[in-house]
Amino acid sequence: GGLHTIAKANGKLYFGSATDNPELSDTPYVAILDDNTMFGQITPGNSMKWDATEPSRGTFTFSGGDVIANLAKQNGQLLRGHNCVWYSQLPSWVSSGNFDAATLTSIIQTHCSTLVGHYKGQIWDVVNEPFNDDGTYRQDVFYNTLNTNYISIALQAARAADPDAKLYINDYNVEGPGAKSTALQNLVKQLKADNVPIDGVGLQGHFIVGELPGNIQQNIEAFTALGVEVAITELDIRMTLPSTPTLLAQQQKDYQTVITACKNVEGCVGVTIWDYTDKYSWVPQTFSGQGAACPWDANLAKKPAYDGIVAGLQA
Ligand code: G3I
Repeated sequence: GGLHTIAKANGKLYFGSATDNPELSDTPYVAILDDNTMFGQITPGNSMKWDATEPSRGTFTFSGGDVIANLAKQNGQLLRGHNCVWYSQLPSWVSSGNFDAATLTSIIQTHCSTLVGHYKGQIWDVVNEPFNDDGTYRQDVFYNTLNTNYISIALQAARAADPDAKLYINDYNVEGPGAKSTALQNLVKQLKADNVPIDGVGLQGHFIVGELPGNIQQNIEAFTALGVEVAITELDIRMTLPSTPTLLAQQQKDYQTVITACKNVEGCVGVTIWDYTDKYSWVPQTFSGQGAACPWDANLAKKPAYDGIVAGLQA
């Protein structure tokens, strides 16, 4: 069976992949993406972000997101909405609008409730990347105007728009213990104490070959102990190019380690890779000289990392 079938057989809800609209004209690529024994869940890499969905105030465009939502629906795959509130890929009317607190509150409420209401019954990254790596809050337009209140405003609007949606906070460099993980745990505790709806925490999982954080499983357990589920939401493990058999073997081991950590914790519900093939990975454009981060190569052939994922799911 494929990765999703193996994940289900081993107690997880899904194994999934991100995708993006431009790739959907690539027929061999889509054939693998459409295989719901391989991927039981899909995340749109860009087309549900704020710049794509509300390019000007009150004008919503769902065309790109709908294509991916419909693909997932046709294949019987879960959809992860990504995302409602994030400092990046914001249209300038939001990032440079200089709104007062009441106006920005209303803007967040409208954006989140319209988005979550349009794609009902899904999982949502409601708040994306709220922290700096040292565990302080990111000084973005939302925090600078509303302090941490923007987080509960977004979550409450999402819950009101769809009581059945799973609401997550999603971040990176929170996969192992450290200041940023502690900050995220403290946020979850505070939200729970305040009765703000929060169902899960997404650990993105953008890693470097040979440099995984230690104690990923212990860290996942620290989150589930707070009464939230956990998902690995954007897994990829990059290397300095060119890839060599040694690097590919280490990458296989690293994929297995991450997946095993999720497998071993009941409340870790699923894993999403940040696209399945090196052909469409975000890594080379962002980190010059790095890449080969995905389990399939640029010719859509499985790499050793694939076997690492299988072994992790069966741990
Ligand atoms: O839409 C424009 C297009 O009009 C233009 O011709 C083209 C030229 O460069 O750029 C296009 O925008 C790009 C956009 O992706 C859509 O393809 C941006 O330049 C590019 O920076 C953007 O990258 C995305 C990145 O988020 C932006 O922050 C990646 O595809 C996407 O995979 C990545 O995903 C993020 C998650 O959302 C959050 N976690 C980290 C993860 C990796 O960075």
